[in-house]
Amino acid sequence: MAEAPTPTTEELAAAGLRLEIDGPVATITLARPERRNAMTGRTWTMLAHIGHSLPPSVRIVVITGAGPSFSAGIDLAMFGPDDVDGEPSLLRTIRERPEDRAAVEAVIAGYQAGFLWLRRPGIVSVAAVRGHAIGAGLQLALACDVRVLSDDARLCMKEPALGLVPDLTGTKPLVDLVGVNRAIELCLTARTVGAEEARELRLAELVVPGAELETAVEDLVAALLATPAAAATATKALLTRAPGSSLADQARAERAAQTDLLVSLAAATGTEAGR
Ligand code: CAA
Repeated sequence: MAEAPTPTTEELAAAGLRLEIDGPVATITLARPERRNAMTGRTWTMLAHIGHSLPPSVRIVVITGAGPSFSAGIDLAMFGPDDVDGEPSLLRTIRERPEDRAAVEAVIAGYQAGFLWLRRPGIVSVAAVRGHAIGAGLQLALACDVRVLSDDARLCMKEPALGLVPDLTGTKPLVDLVGVNRAIELCLTARTVGAEEARELRLAELVVPGAELETAVEDLVAALLATPAAAATATKALLTRAPGSSLADQARAERAAQTDLLVSLAAATGTEAGR
């Protein structure tokens, strides 16, 4: 059972998103191409809502962008004085309650929730990146398990150049992928990385010609779905914890996970034999 009701098309559109669920595959489209899919706070809280609302039958989540860019990052109006889509801008929130750090951090935690669920073991998240993925857009791609880039992709961690830090859960995957030193260089120069360099830096699992992006993602999704769900979930859980685990701990976790799967297998084959 999903924890929350599926958002309506109107609610999604108000957050600049579309959602399509086709059996085990959910496709989330960043859908403000006229703004290069710039995202607001509402986009991120709606992403969190989507995470809570997906039926357990969904095994793959594809995130893609409408139009020429994956995402130009935060809607820059969020730094202006006016409300954005009926929500107070970040700066207005802070100006109104400058002493209330906890309130600001709570708002950011709500935004981060939109990114964190993409790591959960029961799904594989795939970012299909065409064109620019800037700032929050790059962090969204980094929140996914697998990144498929078209050869015109251009990645940039822009936040420090704007006087801020990347705060949408992007620093850890970036460092995990490229190492601390390269991450410092990328973030503190805010330079743009093209698709080929992204592949060399391990920021992309796959780079394909632009015309082949959809097909490449479809092929990847089909290959992912060919693996039994329980094994996929248990394996992703193991792999995700591996960087923070000792070899002994990891070996223990492998034994426990394998025993669970073997017990299920034995029960299933026992049932078959008993028929
Ligand atoms: N916020 C709001 N509007 C944006 C936007 C953004 N981030 N990015 C693009 N747009 C708007 C443009 O203002 C433009 O609107 P108009 O048609 O009304 O003029 C429209 O989208 C199309 O943009 P461009 O004409 O610039 O399109 P392009 O294809 O030539 O360039 C781009 C695309 C390279 C992404 C360029 O638009 C750009 O550099 N955008 C700003 C990127 C940026 O600085 N983002 C913030 C990153 S930091 C972050 O995300 C996280 C954080 O917490 C700070």
